[in-house]
Amino acid sequence: MKIALGVTGGVAAYKAAELVRRLQQEKLDVQVVMTRSAQEFITPLTFAALTGQKVITDMFTEPGSAPANVESAIEHIAVAQRIDLLLVAPATADILGKFAHGIAQDFLSTLYLATKAPVVVAPAMNVNMWEHEATQRNIATLRERGVHVVDPDEGYLACGMTGSGRLASTETIAKRVCDVLGLRHDLTGQTILITAGPTCEDIDPVRFLTNRSSGKMGYALAEAANRRGAHVVLVSGPTDLKIPDGVDWIPVRATEEMDRAVRERAASAQVVIMAAAVSDYRPAAQHDKKLKRNEGSFTLELEPTPDILAELGREKHGQILVGFAAETHAVAESARGKLARKGADMIVANDVTQEGAGFDTDTNIVTFYLRDGREISLPKLSKFEVANQILDRVLEIQKHSK
Ligand code: CTP
Repeated sequence: MKIALGVTGGVAAYKAAELVRRLQQEKLDVQVVMTRSAQEFITPLTFAALTGQKVITDMFTEPGSAPANVESAIEHIAVAQRIDLLLVAPATADILGKFAHGIAQDFLSTLYLATKAPVVVAPAMNVNMWEHEATQRNIATLRERGVHVVDPDEGYLACGMTGSGRLASTETIAKRVCDVLGLRHDLTGQTILITAGPTCEDIDPVRFLTNRSSGKMGYALAEAANRRGAHVVLVSGPTDLKIPDGVDWIPVRATEEMDRAVRERAASAQVVIMAAAVSDYRPAAQHDKKLKRNEGSFTLELEPTPDILAELGREKHGQILVGFAAETHAVAESARGKLARKGADMIVANDVTQEGAGFDTDTNIVTFYLRDGREISLPKLSKFEVANQILDRVLEIQKHSK
């Protein structure tokens, strides 16, 4: 994974060098971006040597001058799209103000606006500057916006004063970055079988029955489980999504194929998560020639498909089974029914009529229904965050079933 480390101008800038090393231990590819004032405290050469990459020092060659070339002028967009996270450590009061107010004056503040990756800031400054209402308001704005703030430590500050404002320890910052990226290594040694996407049931060579599933939830689960150290088997219906690196990807089309792929592999998995939107019915007959239009109405006979989750629930080999319930009404009732009927350990339910939940969105609003009767409702979160919450619950169920 690739992260950008923004270094801004404070005495603690030298600590960013140690931070680079620590982040590299997590196998993170670190691209350093320095503000002009950071370069007064530490040279770009130090970071270039540590990362083996060119350090980005500014957007323009000279203040007010034209960009050196088109490439450098659009570099912030390219970096913004490439990174999985933007970390700023140390973050001065100045950069926090720029971020909070959307001022894009240099490469780093422009990168903040241009990226959709999560942002972590580790402030460091004089205690009075930290406690100033302006800074505190900026911090509050950033937190509200979802920026992760690694609070500064208390202690002796370079300015001679004592108080809050010292850059948090390298370990604390690195840990927060890993948490935000979902790099927790707590699923090492487990095989997790995940299904994703829709199924397609062919009617004839050109037509099929399918549904609106994009596969995003299942792929987010695969990505999250993989980052947490699991061996992931992803059985996927047709989607346009990028195959997550390091995942065993098994493409399927119809429910029957998905059923076969899952059942062949379920026994060797500790966890099965059925995030796929599996078709409940398929055409009773498949035509090998294209059906022609005729006068009058047309009736298509459907037959039920195998219920993969329910079959696994019956045969259960000690795995944790997680099912999904995409509903438009009576969510709790349906979810509870599915929990019992399918022999699952947990049902992740969402009301697909809610804005920010359901098909083809990057967010989801879900409630977990557990066997012990608990119902846990989560706020609107990214599908990646929902995925991590599901995996946290899976670990909890495993712990209690030991
Ligand atoms: N599922 C499955 N096999 C099927 C249908 C569904 O394994 N043939 C799984 C889905 O992947 C999901 C869960 O079962 O994890 C719930 O799917 P859903 O279609 O909502 O459940 P149904 O039992 O079909 O209930 P409904 O009456 O709401 O359609």
